[in-house]
Order: sequence, then structure tokens, then C-alpha cells
Amino acid sequence: MHQIINEIRESFDNDLKIVTSAEQLENLRIAYLGRKGKISQLFEDFKNLPNEEKRTVGKELNILKTTSQNKFDEMKEKLSEGSSNGNADIDLTLPGRKVEVGTKHILTQTLEEMRDIFRGLGFSVHEGPELESDHLNFEMLNFPADHPARDMQDTFFVNKDFLLRTHTSPVQIRLMSNQKPPLRAIMPGKVYRNEAISAKSYCLFHQVEGLYIDTDVTFAELKGTIVSFAQQFYGKDVKYRFRPSFFPFTEPSAEVDIWWEPANGKEGRWLEILGCGMVDPNVLENCGIDSEKYVGYAFGMGVERIAMLKYGVSDIRTFFDNDKRFLKQF
Ligand code: DAH
Repeated sequence: MHQIINEIRESFDNDLKIVTSAEQLENLRIAYLGRKGKISQLFEDFKNLPNEEKRTVGKELNILKTTSQNKFDEMKEKLSEGSSNGNADIDLTLPGRKVEVGTKHILTQTLEEMRDIFRGLGFSVHEGPELESDHLNFEMLNFPADHPARDMQDTFFVNKDFLLRTHTSPVQIRLMSNQKPPLRAIMPGKVYRNEAISAKSYCLFHQVEGLYIDTDVTFAELKGTIVSFAQQFYGKDVKYRFRPSFFPFTEPSAEVDIWWEPANGKEGRWLEILGCGMVDPNVLENCGIDSEKYVGYAFGMGVERIAMLKYGVSDIRTFFDNDKRFLKQF
């Protein structure tokens, strides 16, 4: 009997070790401590023992029963703790975390819209460097050596020969020097001017340059392209005008204004959005293009101006402040 008690203790312990669920534990209880379980059975056998053995065996049996019951209770608690602990990490009453979705900067949106319109008109997209040579930024574009735009006040010079480009026009030169006509491309990018910062001007802004070179390009086509852009961007009823102007790299040249009416009911006025013209034959020749055979037009638009007009922004600096209250509106 002594030996059987030990065997049952061992097998109970072993069976308990592999219990992982409440269901398995309950089966174990029935198998050992239940009314017909192994330990209860031992108590039945006990009744038939001779009296002199009953004392010691009875003691052992009681110990087996109580320790087994204790181990069972302990395990039961462990299992239920485990499951309630798992839940304790999650407070289902907490409000969810709000995921903030960012938006594209209004200038990026404007640039993308402009790009899509010009793509629709048959223009491809090219880019050039922001650090540019004086040669490409001025000389190749037919700026005389003493032109005021070369003045230190307007240009951020890096050294005698290099500068931060003051316009996107040098990308025209790069394109015309590297590819053969016909050419039809827009060239978006950042430009820099060493100007006093105010609501109207900033040291950095964006331009979109346009260029079309072929054998029979006319000023009427230039006009048609600009008007088509303005109508797609601002709507069919947009009021515009072409004014004669001067640029060293175009002849004839013009500037285009858009009629702007402020939302507050104040009187409207003309606002300039771009410069344009027929590419000067000198510029074509500088790039190795035969000016007897080819002609072309070019234009350069200020992206901030174009966005200010469309969205009623009155201070150019707000584009660069990165104030979320401003950016969120678009
Ligand atoms: N580069 C000129 C500027 O920054 C804008 C411009 C005018 C570009 C006429 C052109 C053009 O391509 O034909 O003020």
C-alpha cells in the first residue's frame, strides 16, 4: 500500500505538470480526486487493511489527499490569473488613438496641377540644379555684362563663377544645349533672390519655365498655350492681359497679368503671373541651334504668385512658415 501511494503521488505530479487549460485540470481532478478517482479508490482499499497497518497508511493517505487538493487549487488559481492578466493590459474603455493624416503642401499641390495641365498640352518635364554657373544663369541668356540683374543685391553668389540660380531659365539653356529640336518642356524648381523680405517677396520661391522650339512656332501659339493654361487653372471666365515687356533672352517679350478681386469686396487689380516671349536668336545660337531654321517661345511663371491668386493668400511668407493652421486649409 505504501508503494502504491507513492506511485499515485508521482503520477499525479507528472500529470499536473502538463496541464495547460482549465479543462485539462478538471479532467485531472476527476481522475484522482473525484468520487471514483484513484485517490478515492485508495480510501476504499484502506478499509480492508489489517488494523495495525491502518494507522500509518491512514496518515499517508490523508497527506496525499490534502497535498493533491492543494496542488490542484494552486494550479486552478494560476490558470485563472493568467487569463485575467492577459486582459489587464488592454483597457477597452480608453478612446482610440487618432491617426493624423498629413496633406501635400499647397505649393506641391499647385506645382502638380500646373504640371498636369502642361502635360496635357504636350510638354515633358525637366529639372536642373539650384546651384548654377554665372555663365548659364546670365551669359548664355544674353544678359549684357553690366545688366542690373547681376547685381549683388539680387543674386546670392557662392563665388565669382557660381550662384544660387535667380530663375529657372538656365534649365532652358541646358535642354537646348543637350537635345536637338523639336523641344517642348516645362522646367519647375526653386529659385533664389537676395531681396528684402516682405509680404510680396521672399528670398526663395518657385518658378515653372516653359520652352517650345520647332521650325514654325508663332507668338499666337504662345498666347494660345498661356490662355489655355490660365483657363484650365483659374476657370473659363479668367480675365487676363498680355503687356509688352523686355527680357534679354526673348524678342519680342510680354508679361501676363490676371485680374484679381479680393474676397473682402475691395477693388480688384491686375497681378503679374509670368514673363514670356519668342526665344532670342542669340540664345538659340549660344546653344548650337540654327536660328535660321528654328524658332521658339519661352515663358517663366512664379508658382507662389499663381497659388496666391487662386487661393486668396495675401502674404508670400505664409508658404514657408510651416504653420499647420495655414497648411491645414488646403
Ligand atoms: N526668367 C524670368 C524671370 O525670372 C521669367 C521669364 C520671362 C522666363 C520670359 C522666360 C521668358 O522663359 O521667356 O523674371
